Amino acid sequence: MKKRYALAGASGRGYRMYGTNIVNNYADVAEVVGIFDPNYLRAEFVRDNLDKNIPTYTDFDKMIAETKPDCVIVTTMDSFHHEFIIRALDAGCDVICEKPMTIDAEKNQQILDAEKRNNRKIIVTFNYRYIPYVTKVKELIRQGAIGDVVAVDYEWLLDKHHGADYFRRWHKWMKNGGGLLVTKATHHFDMVNWWLDQDPVKVYANGALSFYGPQRAPEKPQVRCKGCPYITTCELAYTGFDDISTRNVDPRISKMKNYLKGMYFDAESVDGYYRDQCVWADCDIYDNMSATVTYSGGTILTYSLQAFSPLEGVKFAINGTYGRIEGEAISSDIGPTELSFQVRVYNAKGEMVQYKIPQGVGSHGGGDTRMLDKIFRGNDSDPLGHMAGSRDGAMSVLVGAAANISIKEDRPVYIKDMVHLYE
Ligand SMILES: NC(=O)c1ccc[n+]([C@@H]2O[C@H](COP(=O)([O-])OP(=O)(O)OC[C@H]3O[C@@H](n4cnc5c(N)ncnc54)[C@H](O)[C@@H]3O)[C@@H](O)[C@H]2O)c1
Repeated sequence: MKKRYALAGASGRGYRMYGTNIVNNYADVAEVVGIFDPNYLRAEFVRDNLDKNIPTYTDFDKMIAETKPDCVIVTTMDSFHHEFIIRALDAGCDVICEKPMTIDAEKNQQILDAEKRNNRKIIVTFNYRYIPYVTKVKELIRQGAIGDVVAVDYEWLLDKHHGADYFRRWHKWMKNGGGLLVTKATHHFDMVNWWLDQDPVKVYANGALSFYGPQRAPEKPQVRCKGCPYITTCELAYTGFDDISTRNVDPRISKMKNYLKGMYFDAESVDGYYRDQCVWADCDIYDNMSATVTYSGGTILTYSLQAFSPLEGVKFAINGTYGRIEGEAISSDIGPTELSFQVRVYNAKGEMVQYKIPQGVGSHGGGDTRMLDKIFRGNDSDPLGHMAGSRDGAMSVLVGAAANISIKEDRPVYIKDMVHLYE
């Protein structure tokens, strides 16, 4: 029998990752039985592109009552994840939740309590675990290739195509996504937590707004790019709307024009969600961050994230008692055009063993496809523990939430003071 899934959030991720894949690739085992979004036009656009027979709702509880899903896929704006997770669990459904599971310690606790009282299951979709080079590192550490891991250096870079997008949308306000240390870095903290198989214990962090926002604005910041007098000269003008009249026609954006029009520009009359907000206007998140995290096994993580780099991707080094693993997965518009996925092991024999890891098929370095296969078709076998649950979701969010507190209050923050975990 097909498993019944309801979508909570007709978002880009809800549509392109889950809706489209269920309808096109997993229809023999799964079906979308309802689509909820407070913006009815966005929900209808997603429905029209998936299957016109799927009912849409602006009332979540009504959708659950009428469609009786087995599982709710939560893909709303981050700050509302907890609401729909808890309401789905209390209605007897399992939950698949996009990262980050939520944005702060209080909401984490509410989710963990709801899961416990309902005895249902939450899957948190950490697609990065499934990217081949990330899995390879997990295998190497598990095999003892470098002894015990004592220190990790981890630098994540967002280029201006990707980084600027967080300053054009809801992510630009802490209250919506917890800033990049939560909404983005939850991927990175989960990756390190998973590699190490340890719990984060203590976090110190720093954060700054060094590039976006009003202090570096080349001209007077506007509300949005549409209608902006500086559209032809602004380095970061957004060209996703209809009347493309700027010199900055980014092919990655213009090829998505119909999608952007239907999802965002045609639907903005309902909720005032502008997809093309000015990156030079006010925001309260950081674009330049670092954190030091101490782990339960004594490992120390040194982490940094910048959102305005010429490069996109990660460089990491993992130091063990008997060796070191180095790696990078970098893409760039101005440098090498191919993604490079490389992992090098400096082992106890004094050798350097290099692995060039092929990129997986599909988005996020192949992580999305491999994860979807596991969720929709997988069996219980999971030797490396790829499938993440609420504890993993909480642990990665808590590192970011602790970092936010550390920056604001200029102090170390202990994870144990933030949440009660059920073992
Ligand atoms: N794993 C990944 O690699 C990945 C990639 C992209 C996005 N995401 C996650 O997916 C989710 C959606 O992100 P997106 O960029 O696709 O979003 P989006 O900007 O396309 O859509 C956000 C949606 O949230 C809805 N929303 C706003 N207020 C709401 C409310 N009060 N209640 C319910 N819904 C509300 C909006 O109507 C909209 O449909 C986020 O949690 C994001 O972090 C994950």
